[in-house]
Amino acid sequence: MYDFFSDFESFTESWWPYLISVFITVISATRFYFGGTYCPSSARIDGKTVIITGGARGIGLATAKQLTNRGANVILAVRNVEKGLKALNEIRETNKTASVQIKLVDISDLASIRNFAEGIKNEHDKIDVLINNAGIIGSKAQDEYEPVFTTNYLGPFLLTHLMLPLLAKSDNGRVINVSALAHYNGKLDLEGNFGKSSTPQEAFAKSKLALTVFTKYIAQLHKSTNITFNSVSPGLVRNTGHWETFSSLNSSFLTKLSVWPWVWLFMKTPKQGCQSIVYLTVEPSLHKVTGCYFSDCEIKEPAEIVNDFNVARCLYEKTCKIVALDSEDIKN
Ligand SMILES: NC(=O)c1ccc[n+]([C@@H]2O[C@H](COP(=O)([O-])OP(=O)(O)OC[C@H]3O[C@@H](n4cnc5c(N)ncnc54)[C@H](OP(=O)(O)O)[C@@H]3O)[C@@H](O)[C@H]2O)c1
Ligand SMILES: *[C@@H]1O[C@H](CO)[C@@H](O)[C@H](O)[C@H]1NC(C)=O
Ligand SMILES: *[C@@H]1O[C@H](CO)[C@@H](O)[C@H](O)[C@H]1NC(C)=O
Ligand SMILES: *[C@@H]1O[C@H](CO)[C@@H](O)[C@H](O)[C@H]1NC(C)=O
Ligand SMILES: *[C@@H]1O[C@H](CO)[C@@H](O)[C@H](O)[C@H]1NC(C)=O
Repeated sequence: MYDFFSDFESFTESWWPYLISVFITVISATRFYFGGTYCPSSARIDGKTVIITGGARGIGLATAKQLTNRGANVILAVRNVEKGLKALNEIRETNKTASVQIKLVDISDLASIRNFAEGIKNEHDKIDVLINNAGIIGSKAQDEYEPVFTTNYLGPFLLTHLMLPLLAKSDNGRVINVSALAHYNGKLDLEGNFGKSSTPQEAFAKSKLALTVFTKYIAQLHKSTNITFNSVSPGLVRNTGHWETFSSLNSSFLTKLSVWPWVWLFMKTPKQGCQSIVYLTVEPSLHKVTGCYFSDCEIKEPAEIVNDFNVARCLYEKTCKIVALDSEDIKN
């Protein structure tokens, strides 16, 4: 007869239990380390109105869940009704009393952004937080990458300016730009057509660098107001559209199967990825912190060029022309 107990005894007397527990500990420690820092603040923001662009999936959706749970009224600015409604239902499934609505906008289309801003102005007297999260990462299948620059940089640029009058009505308006580690690899060549790139990597890095340069510059322009401007890097996050686009490039099922354990081990979940954004949104002590770059809930040094005031001013002036912002909009 099969003797379970003597088998079990010989197992427990062997090295296996030690090896297995060491293995599990190493795996858990690695996951914990690469998962990044959780928002150290438990502050609530009851009744505050927060706009999250691209809130239908990934990091934006994870942020929306965290913020509705802390009492915020969240406006998901999405480009697709069905996806928006799906996200809305997903939030309400986890919290029946969550205060959340969807509004349509295409961040790559400047006219659509102006429309969206009009709609918001008609319905709201003030906005407390604007999270510029919508973004795309180009794929090699494309032959030009200007949409990346428009979506990740020009769109948030215009939207931020159009929302300034409403943000100024808040006691402490906050604008948060979702940047990326990739901005360190970005190059800004302000001669000629600076939105052009020849690879998706270049386009993504450039758009995020421009966004980060701006964050610092606009923060200086609005120093005397109660509005703060910061950018954050979420880290490397899986289960997002970005990751799908990036990883589906020409990989076979077998390749995917072999990278999956590494992805699982080293990349953040959207919930882990959104923690710095949540922290910047809710933490009361940050009410005067502006023009900074955050990663893992801490201020970090961004790429060097971000501190170059002349580059920033040149970029700012060129961008105002491209998005056709008149001085009227900027003053507000
Ligand atoms: N995942 C990462 O590892 C990583 C790393 C660094 C930075 N980031 C940044 O984090 C932010 C969120 O990214 P994610 O990883 O959560 O990616 P995601 O899952 O692809 O989410 C991006 C969201 O933006 C929306 N969006 C894209 N273009 C839009 C447009 N023209 N108008 C309106 N909405 C638009 C998408 O809408 P649809 O659902 O309709 O496509 C989607 O909901 C992005 O700014 C991204 O660059 C991500
Ligand atoms: C559910 O949402 C409400 C309203 O935003 C919030 O006050 C409450 O704390 C949330 N519940 C949980 C369990 O997070
Ligand atoms: C976000 O980036 C845009 C440029 O795309 C800029 O105009 C805006 O001021 C930035 N906001 C913050 C908070 O950095
Ligand atoms: C900033 O907020 C403080 C306190 O809420 C208020 O007294 C002050 O008038 C505000 N300043 C501006 C420029 O709105
Ligand atoms: C995949 O690889 C093939 C051949 O190497 C190439 O022709 C094709 O454009 C690639 N597809 C993508 C999406 O990069």
